Amino acid sequence: MWYSFIPKETRRLILDLPYILSIPLAWYWCSSQGVRWRYGWRLYGRPSFRQYGPGARISIGERFRAHSRSRGNSIGVFQEVILTAWGKGALLEIGDDVGMSGCSILAGNHVRIGNRVLIGSGALILDTDAHPLAPDERSRREPARSAPVVVEDDVFIGSRAIVLKGVCLGHGSVVGAGAVVTRDVPPLAVAAGNPARVTGKVSKGVYPNSSPGLRMFSPINKQERAHDHLCE
Ligand SMILES: CC(C)(COP(=O)(O)OP(=O)(O)OC[C@H]1O[C@@H](n2cnc3c(N)ncnc32)[C@H](O)[C@@H]1OP(=O)(O)O)[C@@H](O)C(=O)NCCC(=O)NCCS
Repeated sequence: MWYSFIPKETRRLILDLPYILSIPLAWYWCSSQGVRWRYGWRLYGRPSFRQYGPGARISIGERFRAHSRSRGNSIGVFQEVILTAWGKGALLEIGDDVGMSGCSILAGNHVRIGNRVLIGSGALILDTDAHPLAPDERSRREPARSAPVVVEDDVFIGSRAIVLKGVCLGHGSVVGAGAVVTRDVPPLAVAAGNPARVTGKVSKGVYPNSSPGLRMFSPINKQERAHDHLCE
């Protein structure tokens, strides 16, 4: 190759230049949206961080990667990454080395995403129905049913999948493209379909020291402790 005379480190630096130059912008963008930017984040396009309500918070770990534009993403995205903590005390926690493309995550209560989780383009994760089921309660704008969602370490969520309230995805599990997940998925299981059912299991390439993401966090309230117990 014509560029082989350039040392490898210099080539890497040149390739990384756009990223390095965009760091101040990314830092400014995250701060303006109330989220702490961390070194090692790779934001392709501008994600939307929305924290509405007293104490609502989004916390994201190191080496976060988010594709909010189609360029550079294998299947493209039809929306930016939208991360929302909506309501009093709502909490969206995301671990380290998490990657996502054009997905939307809504925490009306509590959503926890573990380490090394991959979330495909157009996936939707939400811990609330957003509106009550009874029409009179809806018209009175009463709160909707909600239950924490837990995505443990090393989970892979396929594109266009939907993960609904109260679900725990066990560590290393895989959710198929377009699945609608309404019940817990055991660790290292493959779940697909609508409603999602276990269709297989993951037997190779499992991190020996991978621990359930749950253990990274301390339980927040009684309801959640009960939920954690179910997932383990
Ligand atoms: C779920 C998935 C990982 C399963 O892969 P696999 O283990 O090779 O599964 P197979 O193709 O052998 O299929 C096993 C069974 O599950 C079914 N199945 C597979 N994927 C499915 C899906 N997404 N929805 C519904 N059923 C599915 C198959 O029809 C088959 O059923 P059968 O045994 O009755 O014939 C894969 O199909 C998938 O959805 N990958 C996600 C890709 C993706 O979204 N990537 C992200 C890009 S950003």
